Formats: sequence, structure tokens, C-alpha cells
Amino acid sequence: MIASIVLAAGKGTRMKSKIPKVLHKVSGKSLIWHVCQAASYIGVEESILVVGHQAEEVKGELGDKYKYALQEKQLGTGHAVIQAEPYLSKGIDTIVVLCGDTPLLTGLTLQKLLKHHQETKASATILSAILSDPSNYGRIVRNARGQVKMIIEERDALPQERAIKEINSGTYCFNREALFGALKEISPENKQGEYYLTDVIEILVKRNQRVEAIAVEDPLEISGINNRVQLAEAEKVFQKRVNEKWMLEGVTIFDPEVTYIETSVEIGMDTVVLPFSHLKGDTKIGEDCIIGPHTSLENTHVGSFTHINNTISIGAEIGSNCVIGPFSYLRPGTKLADNVKIGDFVEIKKSFVDKNSKIPHLSYIGDCSIGENVNVGAGTITCNYDGKDKWQTVLEDGSFIGSNTNLVAPVTVGKNATIGAGSTITQDVPAEALAVARQKQRNILNWTERKKK
Ligand code: UD1
Ligand code: CA
Repeated sequence: MIASIVLAAGKGTRMKSKIPKVLHKVSGKSLIWHVCQAASYIGVEESILVVGHQAEEVKGELGDKYKYALQEKQLGTGHAVIQAEPYLSKGIDTIVVLCGDTPLLTGLTLQKLLKHHQETKASATILSAILSDPSNYGRIVRNARGQVKMIIEERDALPQERAIKEINSGTYCFNREALFGALKEISPENKQGEYYLTDVIEILVKRNQRVEAIAVEDPLEISGINNRVQLAEAEKVFQKRVNEKWMLEGVTIFDPEVTYIETSVEIGMDTVVLPFSHLKGDTKIGEDCIIGPHTSLENTHVGSFTHINNTISIGAEIGSNCVIGPFSYLRPGTKLADNVKIGDFVEIKKSFVDKNSKIPHLSYIGDCSIGENVNVGAGTITCNYDGKDKWQTVLEDGSFIGSNTNLVAPVTVGKNATIGAGSTITQDVPAEALAVARQKQRNILNWTERKKK
């Protein structure tokens, strides 16, 4: 059985941030979430996260799916791994060690590493990378026969060792016993005064244990995030990966360079995503939709054949064959059935709109239930808030709300009722009735002439 140990106790000083480094996000998920995701791809039985700096925040974000080992003082990567040992279950024989700040590492790469580790029956297998500029990394030192001898940290390296281009990515597979046996022997006698996990390699080699290193195909995968510049670079990589994934699944992305789709989003075949669209969180879009341009959908579910143009939507459910926008604002709790039209400058909150109904222009609809085949005229406002409480408005099937109506909630407009334009409705309107609630028009004849005098 396999367990992963994810090292995430460090401070991440270079992020210059109030939140812990590993909780910074790319593609909508925290750096450490991505690492744990890669680990779950290879079917790890349990994950132990070594936390220290702002440990409570990290735990709070990731929840109790994981075990947490507290490393109070960051005395080095070897010391960090030792903290995880008491949390390992009995049946675990293989340990994958990962860093919490490498979100680009893929499950596929981990799988290759694990496979190599198992096939060679090694005690340790290092994921390495060949870099044209290896600076700042530990170097993989091999003997004349090409076998791994040790890892030397840059600060402790001799000039000829510094010239080595094969570096340690910080990701490894270990045999459990071999790892913790060797960790008992490490000491902080090095330039940084730390307990190095990397020292385990030389110890195992000296014990005649087999140590392997395999290079990652795409060195980009092992980049750790240390500052906001690298964070933005990682975001770009994800943007490309996610967009390419959906294009290969049959989604047309008009300009992937300016389309932002978080890794959590799902999109159906033959949907077109137009430029400057941002699809976030738990957003799911059906088939044959047109999304964008300039549309931001967050935690929004959309049916099929729906067009959404220049719109912001957060926490809404949108049916099929709807037309939304331009310039609509859908807020949490909005639920639109099929064939609904929401037009320009319409804001909707916590409201249900049933089939074939339209709110085409300039409206605020809050805490409202709208039936089928309802037409809400331009400028209609639900007055849902009395300064203290929120109240419901109900517009029953077939009702027609004239332009510029104020609906003072709580209020119900019955089936097929009509509201005259410009009305302020404060009482329920019976089914089939016409309600006009405005002052009667008065015409003063020859007024212009008289004004001049
Ligand atoms: C480490 C490796 C180096 C490798 C590099 C890859 C060692 C000694 N060196 O160096 O060979 O090339 O990663 O990025 O392991 N951490 C803890 N507790 C600690 C120290 C670190 O949890 O006491 C965590 C950090 O939060 C980080 C990870 O371990 O996520 C790596 O630590 P870091 O200090 O960045 O190691 P490097 O010096 O980069
Ligand atoms: Ca590092």
C-alpha cells in the first residue's frame, strides 16, 4: 500500500503574503490541492501533509480527508518527513514524498515514477530533471557506471558537482523501511544546518540498496512556486492545459490565449467559448451553447443550446435554449427553466423563472417566483427589502407586467393578470385582472402658450 507525504511546513517568504504559500491558487485550486490530486491519481491509500507555518489555515482549507503532521520548527526536509512517520498506517510499504508547491506535476508522471520504482524494486527512486540552468537545485551525482551515488545541495556542492545538469525535483518514491531507517542517520552538518531528506540517498547507496533516478519528460512539471511571478507562469500553463483538454473534447475555444477555464469546470461538445470568458469553480455547461464574449460564470450550471453574452453569473442554474445578456447579472439562487430570456441590465437574485418567460431589459428581480409565459416589462423592480426583512414576490403563469412597475413585496400577481405600465403594486392582483396603480393622467390644454405669458 502506498502513502504520500506532502511537505508544506515552509513559510513561503517570497510570496510576501498573509496566507500560506501552498494555499495560493492556480486554476482555481490551491497549490497543495493540485499536488494531492496528482497523488490521488496513483491511488495513494493515505496522504499525510506536513504542516507548520499557518498550519490551521492549511488544515481548514483542505479538511479532514488528509492527516496532518505538525512540524513546529522547519529544521529541514528530512526532519519534516520524520514528523509524518507516526501517522502512517500499518500496511503502508511505499512512500511517495512530494512538495506542496509544485502544482504542475501530473499524475501521469507520478505513475511513471512509481512504476519504475516498483519494477526495479529500488529502495528509493528520485524524480529528476535535466535543466540547462540547474542553479538552486540539488544535483544528482552518479558514479562512473551511471548509478546514483548521492544528491548534493547546491550550497554544499563542489564546482564540478555544480556543473551537473541533472537535478533533484524533490519528488521521490521510497520503500518505507529503507526511508525511515536511513532518516535515523541524517545530521544537520551542512551549510544550511538542516536535516536534509536528500542525505538519505547516500546512506542507502552505502548500505548497498538500489537507488534509481528517472528524469521527467517536461521539466516544467517540477517547477516549484516561490513568488507571484512563478504563480502567474503556472496559471498560464494550466490555462493552456485545460483549454487544450476541452478543445480535444469537442469544445470550440475561439481564442485560447484570452479564455480562462478553471480545472474544475465541465463543458459539453460543440459549445463555443468566445474571448474574454472566465469559467470558474463548479461551473458545468451543456452542449451547443455559446458562451461569451466577456462572460464570467462562477458555480453556474447551464443546460444546452443556451447563449450567454457579456454576462456575470454566480451560483445560478440556467436551463436549455435560454438567451442571457448582454449585460445580465445573475446572482446566487437564480434558477432559470428552459427557453427563458434575460436581457440587458437585468439583475436577478434568489429567484425562479419558469419556462418561456422573459425579462428583457432593465430590471431588478429579487426573492421572486415567476411562472411560465410571463413577460416582465422594461424597468420592473421587485421592492423586496423593507430595510429590515426580505419579502417574496410571485408572478403567476401568463401574467404581464407593464413597463416600469414597482412590485412591493410581499405581493402576488395572479394567473394571466396584467399590470398597467408605471404601476406601484402594493396589493395582490387577482387572476385575469388588470391592475393600474398610478395617478390618472390630466391634460392641461394650451399650457405652453399660457406659460409664455
Ligand atoms: C529541496 C531539495 C533539493 C531539490 C529541491 C527541489 C532538500 C535538502 N533539498 O531543496 O535537492 O532540488 O527541493 O525543489 O530536500 N519543508 C518543510 N519543512 C522543512 C523544510 C522544508 O515542510 O523543514 C517543505 C517546504 O515547505 C517545501 C519543501 O519542503 O514545500 C521543499 O523545501 P525547500 O526548503 O524549498 O527545499 P529546497 O531548498 O528547495
Ligand atoms: Ca524549493
